[in-house]
Amino acid sequence: MDKSLRRPVIAGNWKMNNTPAQAKALIEEMKPLVANADCEVVLCVPYIDLYAAMEAAQGSNIKIGAENCHWAEKGAFTGEISAEMLKAAGVPYVIIGHSERRQYFGETDETVRDRVRAALDAGLKVILCVGEVLSERKLGITSEIVCKQTKVALSGVKAEELANIIIAYEPVWAIGTGETATPEQANEVCKIIRELIADLYSKADADRFVIQYGGSMNDGNAAELLAQYDVDGGLIGGASLKADKFAVIVDAASK
Ligand code: 13P
Repeated sequence: MDKSLRRPVIAGNWKMNNTPAQAKALIEEMKPLVANADCEVVLCVPYIDLYAAMEAAQGSNIKIGAENCHWAEKGAFTGEISAEMLKAAGVPYVIIGHSERRQYFGETDETVRDRVRAALDAGLKVILCVGEVLSERKLGITSEIVCKQTKVALSGVKAEELANIIIAYEPVWAIGTGETATPEQANEVCKIIRELIADLYSKADADRFVIQYGGSMNDGNAAELLAQYDVDGGLIGGASLKADKFAVIVDAASK
């Protein structure tokens, strides 16, 4: 299988950054810099920025995503946004299961599974995040943790739905810390995830499946990480808040 048959996805995760006006300005700055990208370019932004971001990105190759969605279609869930609402608003992508939601907002493997199900049912494209914390890596159970998170999240997902889901492997110890997994460490876990997809579905499904690395990926280290056989893109936090840095990463994925 030729790695180049998988189209890389470079996705920014703005987290809780940028007002609508700042979102518009940043996307206007990014548009010309990523116009010739030979990869999928996505920016996942706070809910409040979605309309401004989609308006700014209109007519460009930048796709917009949300950073979470609820599992129910509607109901008494104060403060939440459903997948149906995102779809109706014209949002194509959504991140689900980010480690910050698992760490700070009580997200479990089961709620991640339910959100994935709702997002796919609504017709959204899902960026599913998995990854171990430092103590788990030190215990040598990275593979078990990542495989469990992946298995539970995909437990209701059919093979024909895999085209609408990608996985971002994000070791929690590498997020926002400036400490990146080495290209070998990133590839090792992305490969484990690909082998799991082959077990759960088929080798052909696994060969087509996009797996990103995330965790302090930046303009300086992206090329080396993205050159790894099983790394098909990146989920970028801090470096997606700067147009020039993000563009360098997009360029690296387009090679
Ligand atoms: P950083 O790139 O800031 O480490 O964040 C990674 C991340 O969490 C993307 O979802």
